[in-house]
Amino acid sequence: MSLRRIMVTAVRNLHPVTLSPSPRINILYGANGSGKTSVLEAVHLLGLARSFRSTRLNPVIQYEQPACTVFGEVQLAEGGTSNLGVSRERAGEFTIRIDGQNAKSAAQLAELLPLQLINPDSFRLLEGAPKIRRQFLDWGVFHVEPRFLPAWQRLQKALRQRNSWLRHGTLDPASQAAWDRELCLASAEIDEYRRNYIKALKPVFERTLSELVELDGLTLSYYRGWDKDRELQEVLASSLLRDQQMGHTQAGPQRADLRLRLAANNAADILSRGQQKLVVCALRIAQGHLVSQARRGHCIYLVDDLPSELDDQHRRALCRLLEELRCQVFITCVDHELLREGWQTETPVALFHVEQGRITQTHDHRE
Ligand SMILES: Nc1ncnc2c1ncn2[C@@H]1O[C@H](COP(=O)(O)OP(=O)(O)OP(=O)(O)O)[C@@H](O)[C@H]1O
Ligand SMILES: [Mg+2]
Repeated sequence: MSLRRIMVTAVRNLHPVTLSPSPRINILYGANGSGKTSVLEAVHLLGLARSFRSTRLNPVIQYEQPACTVFGEVQLAEGGTSNLGVSRERAGEFTIRIDGQNAKSAAQLAELLPLQLINPDSFRLLEGAPKIRRQFLDWGVFHVEPRFLPAWQRLQKALRQRNSWLRHGTLDPASQAAWDRELCLASAEIDEYRRNYIKALKPVFERTLSELVELDGLTLSYYRGWDKDRELQEVLASSLLRDQQMGHTQAGPQRADLRLRLAANNAADILSRGQQKLVVCALRIAQGHLVSQARRGHCIYLVDDLPSELDDQHRRALCRLLEELRCQVFITCVDHELLREGWQTETPVALFHVEQGRITQTHDHRE
């Protein structure tokens, strides 16, 4: 998938604008505070109906404006186009439109516009809570395995049921046993999809990483959320008392994690900031390859402040890998001289200068 047109109204400091990006490389450059990240945020809003900068959406809406709106014309993998629109009002009202129809959930947007974000916060994927890595993992599984979402929804329902029973004990034992069986079935299914996904991701990740940076011995492994040698049913039975004390279920896929280790240490404790950024880039680029392989279209990459924390050699290596993905990429930087050169002559590169919220295209990929 790629965005053929983007229309942005009242997002942060951006003046109303219509962009016709290149289907491949797009570079947004300009001074600090000019609005570069805001453009990426607008695309993110279109793909996920949320911001990556804050959990609250009101700060995204331009001061004194009642609502912000982003429209996009998406070139679909199977041919044809789709028109997406996301609008958010100050009062909290949200509208998602897909081809003229109101959409019920943001998952529909995510399916049409798979986005990968790489920004200066990305190191949290390594350092942060397991939830962040689970979201990364599940994003990948969701985009390659259509059976994942229904299984995940079943798990959430069974888990809510069990946790409520642990706290209040209102359900009779036979009914709860039936819910537990459902929980175990959904868990086994999710575990299988996640395991298969990691098996496919690992070699692509390792190859990508080796092309970016020398980090021999870095390993990626998957923890499913409960003892690998025991059935979940058995684990649940043996930890029932503790679960009741805690008021929620301790073991299961809701506790899964990815582990990145280097020389018997947690990679996040060892790697420099630049190395962490490269590992995260390798993970996200590997995910993009798997989406392409699954023939469900290409991801769109949003890379905020690409040059930060990278030296010349690593910056070039990252650009080369992004280019090889053959996806649409939006890159921001302060100094475009760093990114202007080095692309293959046949790769369409568009340059946009962002200045106090106004965007001017300074190089058209069709020229
Ligand atoms: N709701 C809002 N309404 C109007 N302006 C806003 C709003 N929220 C933020 N701004 C302003 O928008 C401007 C653009 O911010 P943005 O983060 O996009 O800049 P940037 O070009 O990415 O800068 P940097 O190079 O420092 O990362 C900032 O000056 C910010 O103060
Ligand atoms: Mg910025």
